[in-house]
Amino acid sequence: MDEKITIPKLRAMKEAREKITMLTAYDWPTALLLDRAGIEILLVGDSVGNNILGYADTMPVTMDEMIHHTKAVRRGIKRALLVGDMPFLSYQISAEQALANAGRFLKEGGAEAVKLEGGAEMADIISLLVRRGIPVMGHIGLTPQRAAQLGGLKVQGRDEETAQKLLHDAKILEEAGVFSLVLEAVPWALAKLITERVKIPTIGIGAGPYCDGQVLVVTDMIGLSLGISPKFSKRYAHVAEEIERAAKEFLHDVKSGRFPTIEEHSFKISEEVLQKLQ
Ligand code: KIV
Repeated sequence: MDEKITIPKLRAMKEAREKITMLTAYDWPTALLLDRAGIEILLVGDSVGNNILGYADTMPVTMDEMIHHTKAVRRGIKRALLVGDMPFLSYQISAEQALANAGRFLKEGGAEAVKLEGGAEMADIISLLVRRGIPVMGHIGLTPQRAAQLGGLKVQGRDEETAQKLLHDAKILEEAGVFSLVLEAVPWALAKLITERVKIPTIGIGAGPYCDGQVLVVTDMIGLSLGISPKFSKRYAHVAEEIERAAKEFLHDVKSGRFPTIEEHSFKISEEVLQKLQ
């Protein structure tokens, strides 16, 4: 379990039909715990915007914010592959802009790869990054940075035209050089077809059980999302409730004089020094 996770290792996992796990991480302690638990890929998602920074969605997230969080996550990781998520308008303006910003994730943030949203229309930019030595993870299906164009956070690829487009996008992105592909909110049978047709590992979120791996947003997974968690997520802990319970208990203890106690939580001064002060 101590072997460092690399891009070739992920490909080998697909070939060996060993499932891949990925979670988002935004800070040092969480990254350390997820890495220690054995999660293979940690993604500093632009979902840091709505889950940690209190924005309504991912759109306002800046490169500087992403780098700040990526550096924190880097400090917690020994084994997992670290992927930085390119925020809205950090890669769409020009190839030069995409290269410079992707490079920041690796040089400043300590990431080993970047992820960016979009299908065939992003192939040129992806291929440039890959040719310049920056590993890229693709992301198709529901791409939250295009939520307005997609008519909201909806399942993608339900009709023939959009399903064909997703199959096409997956092949084109594979040819452009992505090392892995996130499939978000896609019918499970379509995700299965895509997974069978590409050699790179697919990582599903709301894309059913036949993807090569699964990703969840960590705050959904641990029960720290304060908004509504999507239907496709699964909650493994109830951290928000636990934080609120602990805060209420602290408040009650302080108001009632139960905390701090002299015996357990306080420091002593000798009688002699005290006498002099008085
Ligand atoms: O930003 C994010 O959390 C993501 C995951 C949903 C894959 O892109």
